[in-house]
Amino acid sequence: MSEAPETSQELSEVLEDLRRHLLWQEEDGGRFLQVDARLAAELRGAGLARLRAQAQAAKPASSVAAQPAPAAPQPAPAARPMAPRAPAPEPERPLAARAPEAAPVRREAPVARPLEAPAQARPAAGPLPGVVEGERPTLDEIRRELGDCRRCKLCDGRKNIVFGSGNPRAELVFVGEGPGADEDAQGVPFVGAAGQLLTKMIEAMGYRRDDVYICNVVKCRPPNNRNPEPDEVTACEPFLRAQLRAVQPKVIVALGKFAAQTLLRDTTAITKMRGNWREYEGIKLMPTFHPAYLLRQPAEKKKAWEDLQQVMKFFGKQPGQRG
Ligand code: URA
Repeated sequence: MSEAPETSQELSEVLEDLRRHLLWQEEDGGRFLQVDARLAAELRGAGLARLRAQAQAAKPASSVAAQPAPAAPQPAPAARPMAPRAPAPEPERPLAARAPEAAPVRREAPVARPLEAPAQARPAAGPLPGVVEGERPTLDEIRRELGDCRRCKLCDGRKNIVFGSGNPRAELVFVGEGPGADEDAQGVPFVGAAGQLLTKMIEAMGYRRDDVYICNVVKCRPPNNRNPEPDEVTACEPFLRAQLRAVQPKVIVALGKFAAQTLLRDTTAITKMRGNWREYEGIKLMPTFHPAYLLRQPAEKKKAWEDLQQVMKFFGKQPGQRG
């Protein structure tokens, strides 16, 4: 079927508009658009039918009639070959895709996926619903997802869920084990005796407590401050991993064996792990002693301080220096 001249003119205009739009997209950083020969052919060939229909549908009947007829049907302009592009900057990679871990530990699934079984045999954890795989959730979204959690038996005895506190964009995150009585009562991590020591440690490093982010492996108090059990860690761990993904710190300090072993999926004793830089999903991780242990064994504070000094060195901080 031959085209009415005015239709052909309209198509030329549509195609020109489209071509300009594509060029603008490219100049403006829309590097995902690939105007290649195939698309150009589509525009000139099969795609014309669709464009024609769209152009006709969008145009009031009267304006079609008002268009002056061109002398001859205009050929549709071919899409100009694109200038060679600079390579697109690498998109922000999900944490799980970052540099491999320095230590010979297993790779792990991204945060929002069901977790692989960690070093200790644990039942498989479910996914973290509501947190889209590959996306970076916010702490608020994660907290909402946690809700009035009843995913493990720790919910029976808790007063408050202790989610985490501090700067949601902190460069430094401290991860503890689980809330004690004071934390359970207040819903805030590390506010009891161990917390007061942790606050001193943070301040000695040149930070205020509010500068850093603090959270725990499990968010509910284990009865009588017993150790969290494997199924409890498994239930809570996706939320910890999501928190770390949300904050994206430069350094994580793992306080004590539970934090270090859970994050690193490594059953090595904390006495051996402490003081040695590790990597958690591309983030530097320093295992050190838990403040509660340091309260019981004050002679070990020196070692913990050495560990924290390594962190300070990484950030170029002097003791007591703020900012
Ligand atoms: N010990 C922890 O591991 N976390 C707290 O929040 C308090 C004490």
